[in-house]
Amino acid sequence: MRKIDIFDTTLRDGEQSAGVMLTSQEKLEIAKQLERLGVDVIEAGFPAASKGDQEAVMRIAQSIQSSSVTGLARASKRDIDAAWEALKYSAEPRIHLFIATSPIHMTYKLKKTPEQVLEDAVSSVRYAKERFPVVQWSAEDACRSDRAFLARIMENVINAGASVINIPDTVGYISPEEYGRLFTYLRENVRNIHQVKLSAHCHDDLGLAVANSLAAVENGADQIECTINGIGERAGNASLEEVAVALRIRSDFYQAQTNLALQEISRTSQLVSQLTGMAVPPNKAVVGKNAFAHESGIHQDGVLKERSTYEIITPELVGLSSNSLVLGKHSGRHAFREHIKRLGFIPAEDKINELFLQFKSLADKKKELTEEDVYALLLDHHMRP
Ligand code: KIV
Ligand code: ZN
Repeated sequence: MRKIDIFDTTLRDGEQSAGVMLTSQEKLEIAKQLERLGVDVIEAGFPAASKGDQEAVMRIAQSIQSSSVTGLARASKRDIDAAWEALKYSAEPRIHLFIATSPIHMTYKLKKTPEQVLEDAVSSVRYAKERFPVVQWSAEDACRSDRAFLARIMENVINAGASVINIPDTVGYISPEEYGRLFTYLRENVRNIHQVKLSAHCHDDLGLAVANSLAAVENGADQIECTINGIGERAGNASLEEVAVALRIRSDFYQAQTNLALQEISRTSQLVSQLTGMAVPPNKAVVGKNAFAHESGIHQDGVLKERSTYEIITPELVGLSSNSLVLGKHSGRHAFREHIKRLGFIPAEDKINELFLQFKSLADKKKELTEEDVYALLLDHHMRP
């Protein structure tokens, strides 16, 4: 099994979600939970962006021991110096440098030629390497860049001292097959590639961030960059919990594993949702309220007989105590009987049939029935637990 590093960017790209602003204390609280979750790298912020961000990165860098802490920086001495000030006392100072490599970004945003971008990339990596033991370098908008130019600039920054190379799909544009092919192309065409770890960083504009990240793993990526609950710029980033659980559940296919303590996932998701104010949609994979809720009678019956009929992930794996059999108009007799038993009632079978008919007519009037509704129904029938 290959080990995949998990690089969490909830506190940097995640905080770039519209409407999200975390205080330095809140960032520290999330960072400590990410450390408990066992992420390999925490991207704590963008130190040159503001004094507040620099201070938050510094606090996190000094408090976190078992994850590596990093900060983002553009290819400028000012950014690298600000990152060094924030990270110099961390257990393993690591900088995340980036520069755009696509024609669109180089022409309109940077207003630089490819040769100038290459020079800036190399000189910034050299400057950073004089301070940081680990330099990660990202080719912003890599997926809309010219592949031959991407390979050339990578080879140069590796020679200058970068030891992790990230290939971001900055605008969530690529498809899983193309992203996989890009990793394979780079592995075959960058001569010194064996000296570095390759990283994937995917955005979700077309809803493909997790699929793209997994395609990168299939094609040799050593690190996945992601965020809790998939929060992040625009439609967000690849969601950590989905990537991590997919790698665990389908380890037979991916032949890869992470070091995460998956039982911390639910707690981490709830904390991030609470502190960012970004609600988790109920149908969100792994961490949504409905992710382990079975509604239809056929499914409930199957799960009561054998959980693996309709559950590929156990709730316990991600730190939840149980699944739930939601009572509604699709529920069957089997789940209804189970609920009554859990409430402490043991009616005779013909009574259950009578109650079940009434329960069904109630369910037609209400979307979801609560334990209180069932309890009231039983009391109406003069039953006692
Ligand atoms: O999406 C992106 O390209 C980024 C880089 C700064 C790594 O977040
Ligand atoms: Zn990003």
